[in-house]
Amino acid sequence: MPSKYTPGKHFLQIPGPSNVPDRILRAMDFPTIDHRGQDFFDLSKKCLSGMKKIFKTNSHVIIYPASGTGAWEAALTNTMSTGDTVLMVETGHFASLWCKMANRLGILTELIPTDWRRGAVADQIKDRLIKDKKNKIKAVCVVHNETSTGCMSNIREVREAIDQSNHGALLMVDTISSLASSNYCHDAWGVDVTVAGSQKGLMLPPGLSFNAVSERALSASKSSNIPASYWAWDDHIASNKTGAFPYTPATNLFFGLNEALEMLFDEGIDQVFKRHEKHAKATRLAVQAWGLEVLCLEPKDHSNTLTAVLLPDGHDADKFREIVLHNYNMSLGNGLSKLSGKVFRIGHLGDFNDLMLVATLGGIEMALGCTKIPHQAGGTLTAMQFLKEKNNQDF
Ligand SMILES: Cc1ncc(COP(=O)(O)O)c(C=O)c1O
Repeated sequence: MPSKYTPGKHFLQIPGPSNVPDRILRAMDFPTIDHRGQDFFDLSKKCLSGMKKIFKTNSHVIIYPASGTGAWEAALTNTMSTGDTVLMVETGHFASLWCKMANRLGILTELIPTDWRRGAVADQIKDRLIKDKKNKIKAVCVVHNETSTGCMSNIREVREAIDQSNHGALLMVDTISSLASSNYCHDAWGVDVTVAGSQKGLMLPPGLSFNAVSERALSASKSSNIPASYWAWDDHIASNKTGAFPYTPATNLFFGLNEALEMLFDEGIDQVFKRHEKHAKATRLAVQAWGLEVLCLEPKDHSNTLTAVLLPDGHDADKFREIVLHNYNMSLGNGLSKLSGKVFRIGHLGDFNDLMLVATLGGIEMALGCTKIPHQAGGTLTAMQFLKEKNNQDF
């Protein structure tokens, strides 16, 4: 952050944590309540049932006082045993981290490589599973929306690939940067464990994470031998029946979650998805009009929540981000691991509207003008034109 006071609102356009709307901040600005009292039980039951609607599941939802990484660990420790193999797709930085975690937990991993410019290819998963005659692979793990690259994977196709190969592997999906922003159907897509976090589409501060758990995953948890204590699903499921938790829940974040759910249902979840799709499309049009490259190469895999922009060789994306921050008080996402310095990421998710997007793109365009990065002016105008036409159609 700049050291001196900068007037006006800071533009937090990283791909999460996203902007927390005032309504949610106010909902959390409330004296702490007894987490073993009826008021909290009523609140938590409302949140659990609201989250089931968000995951589109009738099965179990677990809420942890943890970041998304905790919910990754919960998914693995509850279902897997030491020496089990999981098949993962290296869609980017976050898929790699999940894989590293599995290895640390004593799980063997097989990683299908990608060039970090597309989502998972379902046929590659199918081919690998068909060859696994001895059912060595116990789970397929996929990141739905790879936040480091802006590429989405088609989870329905991954499910079909598992079914077509007649393989019994569980399907585990990370939706940390897609849930409540892009359509997602835990039950209909046959997902066994969905992992999510509070700080992106749900518009909350970081601090809550989630597992949605199928009956199959729950029964796998009965024979898993990796110790799960803090993460154990059965303790949560037993306590949650009354609205209680096995340990102190993050009470004030539940006030926020309740408010976030009301806001999402009030806008209409399909409308929320459409809004994200519109902003993602407008952003890509701007990037193309600037003559810059969207990192994601597959149009069908474009993320609705963020766009990673690849700078031409010899231009440092982190230096560019510094100019944006210094001149316009706006934070953009950095390139992670092997994309460090090569891309900047524009977050367009959560509590976000057309004018916020126009300002974001305007800041980027003005900052581009202060650099030697080869580009054409007019990207913001192109996005504005698209938004105008889209809004007229929808009216
Ligand atoms: C797709 C994805 N998975 C996992 C994580 C890790 O979550 P957390 O940082 O909340 O532990 C992130 C964080 O941004 C993410 O975007």
